[in-house]
Amino acid sequence: MVKVSPSILSADFVNLERDIKKVSTADYLHVDVMDGAFVPNLTIGVPVVRAIRKCTNMFLDVHLMIDKPVRYIEDFAKAGADLLSIHLEADHPTRIAEALKVMDQCGVKKAVALRPITSARAILPYIEDLDMVLVMTVEPGFGGQAFLESQLDTIREVRAIIDRYNPACELEVDGGISPKTAPLVVEAGANVLVAGSAVYGAEDIPGAIAALRV
Ligand code: DX5
Ligand code: ZN
Repeated sequence: MVKVSPSILSADFVNLERDIKKVSTADYLHVDVMDGAFVPNLTIGVPVVRAIRKCTNMFLDVHLMIDKPVRYIEDFAKAGADLLSIHLEADHPTRIAEALKVMDQCGVKKAVALRPITSARAILPYIEDLDMVLVMTVEPGFGGQAFLESQLDTIREVRAIIDRYNPACELEVDGGISPKTAPLVVEAGANVLVAGSAVYGAEDIPGAIAALRV
């Protein structure tokens, strides 16, 4: 069963509560946190996650595009995140492992995320301990970019690793997902689809969410 996680990066921030309610038929709510260092864009931080938590019971899938994420795990967990994704490129392996340990202590679900340049094998040291792997299908930083078809191989490789070492682990993809690209990523092994512009750019939002559940 394919799950959809609409990205509020494409929502109207003046009407965030209204725009969160608009995607209530989705499975998760994807929150993009950017620090202007790991990626060349700044978006939202801990106080906004706390505010979102107050206005919805949806599962908060928080994507941390920040350097040295271990510094903020506890803050985002306390703010109400249900799952945190940290980028494998954002710190040394020992500090990535430490961040995952802090997630355990805080009771949040654990994911690692891969930039397009990162090989699927980079998840091997962590795979048995993860709830989700996030494969970026664009360069992280901005919504509305074109899907990178070359990432289909990485999705297939991550799927093979998951099936072998931790079949319960979810495989999320993020970037350029639309009714056109959704069948490709699902066929390659993804089961959670993040979509920003394809959901919020649609006239019929529940229809757009349903259209991604291929
Ligand atoms: C990009 C973000 C994505 C973004 C996706 O760095 O991680 O979650 O919102 O937007 P679309 O679906 O428009 O590519
Ligand atoms: Zn994201």
